[in-house]
Amino acid sequence: MRVFSGIQPTGIPHLGNYLGAITNWVKLQQAHECFYSIVDLHAITIQQDPELLQRNTAEMAAALIACGIKKENLFRQSKVSQHSELGWILFCHTPVSWLTRMHQWQTKSQKNEKKLGLLSYPVLQAADILLYKANLVPVGEDQLQHLNLTNDISKSFNSTYKPVFKEIKGLFSSDKSKRIMSLRNPLVKMSKSDIDASRINITDSPDLIKKKISKSVTDSISGISYQNDRPGITNLLHILMSIQDLQSEKWNLDLPELQSKVEQEFGNKSTQEFKKIVIDEIVQHLDPIREKFNETRHIVDTIIANGENRAGKVASSTLAEVHDALGLK
Ligand code: TYM
Repeated sequence: MRVFSGIQPTGIPHLGNYLGAITNWVKLQQAHECFYSIVDLHAITIQQDPELLQRNTAEMAAALIACGIKKENLFRQSKVSQHSELGWILFCHTPVSWLTRMHQWQTKSQKNEKKLGLLSYPVLQAADILLYKANLVPVGEDQLQHLNLTNDISKSFNSTYKPVFKEIKGLFSSDKSKRIMSLRNPLVKMSKSDIDASRINITDSPDLIKKKISKSVTDSISGISYQNDRPGITNLLHILMSIQDLQSEKWNLDLPELQSKVEQEFGNKSTQEFKKIVIDEIVQHLDPIREKFNETRHIVDTIIANGENRAGKVASSTLAEVHDALGLK
């Protein structure tokens, strides 16, 4: 099976990126052909400081390698020019009405100038995926609408010209990790665009992790339980369970069983005691990743060039088929 996914060069990934997507990327490498892209062309849909973009891209590459992504599977989108070329071809094919209904456009266009790049963002994302004829796309839940659009674009292209593209499937993490929430407002997703205290970055020091989790917003109900009306506690439970499941699948249970196991393990703990358990689990899990990141960050520029060659070969073969289908011979 062929796997493709992408991540924006936002510097250090946070726990949402890690638990929602990156842990699946790592697992899939064992049995599948994987292509993982740092999507720097998507990043410039919002104006970037050039030096900062370069630093954030290098940090993202080092962080992904520290998480266990093989360097040969990793590449920068801007260095494989077929992404932009297929992007243009699909821009010519995609109705604007399909794009104005995207949630991300509706939110981001309110905060930023309405530029073409921002509107066409999901079409470039479709080009990313379709270039590799990927079968599986491991992502967090927030990407679902973009994956559906990718299939709409590919079906429409195939039926207008030739059947070049394949149907793609999203691969989502468990219900616990597909949408990790902000530590400051557990009703919105953890995001890089929010304040630093709202998220754990995967290279945060133990002290910083302690500070952020200790101050995370929960509730005043005593004891710990797994309930819909306790979003802050639920989010911390999701983080804890997702990390533990990476080793043992111990929380892979139906809802009633899950609720009673939570009750059994943490029911009589205070919020403070429970937060301490969560802090220890996160710190222990992220320690080796932070160490590996510190070793890798200085050498990263040279080591992902191989990944770019490898991706370019597959991308140029698909683009040749697309040119053929369009009569651009
Ligand atoms: P990005 O860079 O915002 O996020 C990278 C991955 O992390 C997931 N994610 C989350 N999962 C759970 N909880 C959260 N709070 C959370 N925040 C982020 C995202 O779902 C994503 O899987 N448009 C994409 C990048 C992209 C892409 C692609 C993805 C470009 N081309 C092709 C897949 C295939 C994005 O902005 O992801």
